[in-house]
Amino acid sequence: MTEKKGTYYITTPIYYPSSNLHIGHTYCTVMADAMARFKRLTGYDVRFLTGTDEHGQKIQTIAQEKGKTPQEYVDGVVDGIKKLWETMEISYDDFIRTTEERHVKRVQDIFMKLYEKGDIYRGEYEGLYCTPCESFWTESQLVDGKCPDCGREVHKAKEDAYFFRLSKYGDRLIDLFENNPEFLQPDTRRNEMIAFVKQGLDDLCISRTSFDWGIKVPLDEKHVIYVWLDALTNYITALGYPESSELYDRYWPANVHLVGKEIVRFHSVIWPAILMSLDIPLPKQVLGHGWLLLEGGKMSKSKGNVVDPVTLIDRYGIDALKYFLLREYTFGQDGVFTNEVMLKRMNYDLANDLGNLVSRTISMIEKYNGGIVPDSKLSDAFDDDLKSVALGAAGKVEAHMDKFAFHMALEEIWILVRRANKYIDEKMPWALAKDPEQKDNLDTCLHNLSESIRIISILIYPFMHSTSDAIRKQMGLWYADVVWEDASTFEMMYQEKVKKGNPIFPRLDIAKEIEELEALNNAPKEENIPLELKPAIEYDDFDKIDFRVGTVLSAEKHPKADRLLVFRIKMGTERRQVISGVADDFTPEEMVGKKVIVVANLKPRKLRGLESKGMLLFADNGKRCEIVTTVAEDGNVVS
Ligand code: MSP
Repeated sequence: MTEKKGTYYITTPIYYPSSNLHIGHTYCTVMADAMARFKRLTGYDVRFLTGTDEHGQKIQTIAQEKGKTPQEYVDGVVDGIKKLWETMEISYDDFIRTTEERHVKRVQDIFMKLYEKGDIYRGEYEGLYCTPCESFWTESQLVDGKCPDCGREVHKAKEDAYFFRLSKYGDRLIDLFENNPEFLQPDTRRNEMIAFVKQGLDDLCISRTSFDWGIKVPLDEKHVIYVWLDALTNYITALGYPESSELYDRYWPANVHLVGKEIVRFHSVIWPAILMSLDIPLPKQVLGHGWLLLEGGKMSKSKGNVVDPVTLIDRYGIDALKYFLLREYTFGQDGVFTNEVMLKRMNYDLANDLGNLVSRTISMIEKYNGGIVPDSKLSDAFDDDLKSVALGAAGKVEAHMDKFAFHMALEEIWILVRRANKYIDEKMPWALAKDPEQKDNLDTCLHNLSESIRIISILIYPFMHSTSDAIRKQMGLWYADVVWEDASTFEMMYQEKVKKGNPIFPRLDIAKEIEELEALNNAPKEENIPLELKPAIEYDDFDKIDFRVGTVLSAEKHPKADRLLVFRIKMGTERRQVISGVADDFTPEEMVGKKVIVVANLKPRKLRGLESKGMLLFADNGKRCEIVTTVAEDGNVVS
């Protein structure tokens, strides 16, 4: 049994329930979940917090647009978010919603504490406001005159407001960044924040009167508390602060706040200043991760170009998606998501490397030893090398996880997976099986492969626990708990009965999958994008046209132009010749007998030597021409 090593409190940002979450949000939560599971497995008393940030003008506006109250609206979205985490088997210990009574009350208490400390005062705020980000900016902070976070327009805004004395904490923040580099990582983010604070901090406006979907300022109910003060405090209100609370005593300060790079400023400047003012310890670390981008740039709900994690889970399973996210991208850096990169990872690493190792090993144990894991009997250079890679892996994984280098931790495990596959090729058990004198060698080989797979099943557990369970079941290890320390010993398997199951990761036809994913991605986009049209015309222009119904008596190709058809049309008593450029879309035969609409008063003109009197109506459906026809008196479409 693993000894407890202390507590470990990890948090994700609380997500805006402005719409369903996409793969970018999922990325952060998957990392936090893997770390929480890793820490639990390696002996920590873990608390993992996530939740939703439900107040603010943006939410109020969206709710209004949907004809719902803000509460009704967020309730629906939050249900969806919780379901997503359930589907993804995210192992959070608490989910905090900023609309919950426990949070609202504690935020008000925190506000009063800051006020009583003398760090909140009343004043008037005038600034440049970005509505979507709910942030005021100074002129110098703007990028090309736009919001530095989201690049959208800002507008001048002025209101009576309460202010937090952020400026008072500038020096302490610089000290914190400079003397405790671990507090904010990666270094690039820390340097940015040092530069930002060194410019001088303005006091922070922490109340709003322009909307009311928020927590009321206790002193002054006309004001609601600025959404970032409301949101940041979730990390302590969820533990019970400022009430006396066992959870708070046990888990605060947090070990790590995992956040996206664009909200590092809030977490490493505003949040520590609030905590300094409250006189309580600072989190040990704020880690800023990069963004998942699409080839065309940022994923954005408003652009509608988001990747839906549920589609991917439905097709490939939770573990394949988690593996891909954690293995492909380097913590702290941006990464580009493409279906192809994802599918290749799934095929090469999961179906080929890991899947084959397990299925080949089990098949050989079934074939050569009646399905029973044999004992190890000998040791040669190949055996020793495999053992040393296997026994060294756990320590290396731990070292990488200490740095949140998930991709390196997984690579370390896959070094072992690939080593074990190579070991099969080196030892050639199928050849050993042919020679009864090599039975001990064969047994040793099968034993060592089984031990390696057992170790792999422990190492991957924090990242892909269902796959770990499936492998352990097939290896006959269903009875044993997954214990991290067992990854550092090579002598645990004893006559387990293996049993082949379904392939743990099926091989994917990459080209076919890409095609299907693209079709799915294109299908639901019912966007309202205006068509590109000729300039608008006046009604009077339109009214000059005389439309008549005609019947096509005959049709033939124009003798001098491939794209033109020459029609004889009967309109009432009159018969005339009309020429149209529709030979690419219609054959002469299919046109005969059709009812058509004719622009009857168009001035006649010659087309390649033949006269055309009038024009038939066709319309462009985006792909080809369609004929404009009419409904006969009996109600049937005549065409
Ligand atoms: N509500 C605030 C956080 C308050 S925390 C006290 C917020 N919410 S958010 O829903 O907009 O974003 C939550 C997190 O998702 C952020 O850390 C953000 O970086 C992350 N991501 C959003 N899109 C992302 C990608 N495309 N890629 C990676 N992470 C992304 O900000």
